[in-house]
Amino acid sequence: MGEKGAGTMSAARTPPTIEEVCRLVTPARAAAFRACGFPLVQGRREGSRLYDLQGRPYVNCRSSGGVFNFGHRPAFAVEALRGALDHLDIGDWLVPSPWRAEAASRISDSLPGGDWMSFFVPGGGEAVDVAIKLARLATGRTGFVCAEGGYHGHTGFALSAGDPCLSEGMGPLVPGFERVAFGDAAAVERATGPGTAAVLLETIPATGGMLVPPDDFYPRVRAACDRAGALLILDEVQAGLGRTGKIWGFENWDVVPDIVITGKGLSGGVYPVSACTYRADLERALETRPFFHPSSYGGAELGMVVAAAVMDEVRKPGFLEHVRAMGERFQAGFDALRERHPDVLVEFRRRGLMMGYDLPSPVHAIAMLRLLLERGVLSVFSNNRPFSMQLMPALVISPEDVDFVLEAAGGALEALEREVPATAGAGAAS
Ligand SMILES: Cc1ncc(COP(=O)(O)O)c(C=O)c1O
Repeated sequence: MGEKGAGTMSAARTPPTIEEVCRLVTPARAAAFRACGFPLVQGRREGSRLYDLQGRPYVNCRSSGGVFNFGHRPAFAVEALRGALDHLDIGDWLVPSPWRAEAASRISDSLPGGDWMSFFVPGGGEAVDVAIKLARLATGRTGFVCAEGGYHGHTGFALSAGDPCLSEGMGPLVPGFERVAFGDAAAVERATGPGTAAVLLETIPATGGMLVPPDDFYPRVRAACDRAGALLILDEVQAGLGRTGKIWGFENWDVVPDIVITGKGLSGGVYPVSACTYRADLERALETRPFFHPSSYGGAELGMVVAAAVMDEVRKPGFLEHVRAMGERFQAGFDALRERHPDVLVEFRRRGLMMGYDLPSPVHAIAMLRLLLERGVLSVFSNNRPFSMQLMPALVISPEDVDFVLEAAGGALEALEREVPATAGAGAAS
């Protein structure tokens, strides 16, 4: 097996195959990846690129959904974590901590209005669970309105909120979740009533295909919540922290939710941390339940130091401007690709560097994944809309790397037209 601690295999040894590295770790995955022509095993990584064990580089346009928003091993996060390791450990979740207070205050400062409270946990799904429990405690209601095709993680409440395709064979789930088409404001209005604790949405559904809603969607959803006395929970695990060219995705629509979920990028890619951040007045619901969600690694102090550094990073002058400029560069490139390949590149959607595009069918998307990989780009399709490709590069991607990805996408689309019959998987993209 691999050299302990090293990311690249020595020349003298043959790097292990995907089957070998998966033998004791979910071997079913190796077969699934092999079937997709995606037998990548990750090795060394730095900045916008990760390398396979043979040392071949790939521009990472998956970024693990935003975990690597700042690229791999960003210096500011590595330094923050290294410094923290000199004097901290995870800390006791039960005992209050100034490092937790500091991270919460940086998040609060980035949000509009007065104080916002943060409840820290390791994963995004758990942060969604916290939000759902909090919404039920705060409203005394049990109902949630969510989106078809949505994804909020695989923990208990979060899985119940997501699209049923994610939980096949795993039921029974938590009751109380109703789903409507994402972007359909009238459907949200109809579904939101006196039993609704909250409307829970990904600001831009990522696993659902990077769907950008119509301009009036969020204002109408906010108004529907206000009328019904329901909360608005926005899951910004992927859309938050600069991804859309604003710190928070919902700033694009001038609405303010009652609860925001963040994760992935908050880790700086080096220490797992997520947060359920809520309006200060909701804290009243916890007065009689201050220990409503114990979590041994929740608010781990090493992660708090990293999260505070991340919040500083997204607010640095020029950071969001760069995201917007690189997004426009991708837009221009994809506009040109659409003209050249109108039959296979069906639609391109984007806010900042949160991007996706539709191909004619899931068969095309699986082939596209492989064709991009062959051209040095890692990019996957959306699980809940499998004819849509996701394009989530590091937010710090350089103009040269944008051009590299566009070149690779052009080559892959040409190959797609040659290799995959237009009618393959016909009717899937609707
Ligand atoms: C929008 C959204 N919410 C929640 C989650 C769950 O986060 P985690 O995998 O950290 O539990 C994800 C993960 O991909 C996500 O994309």
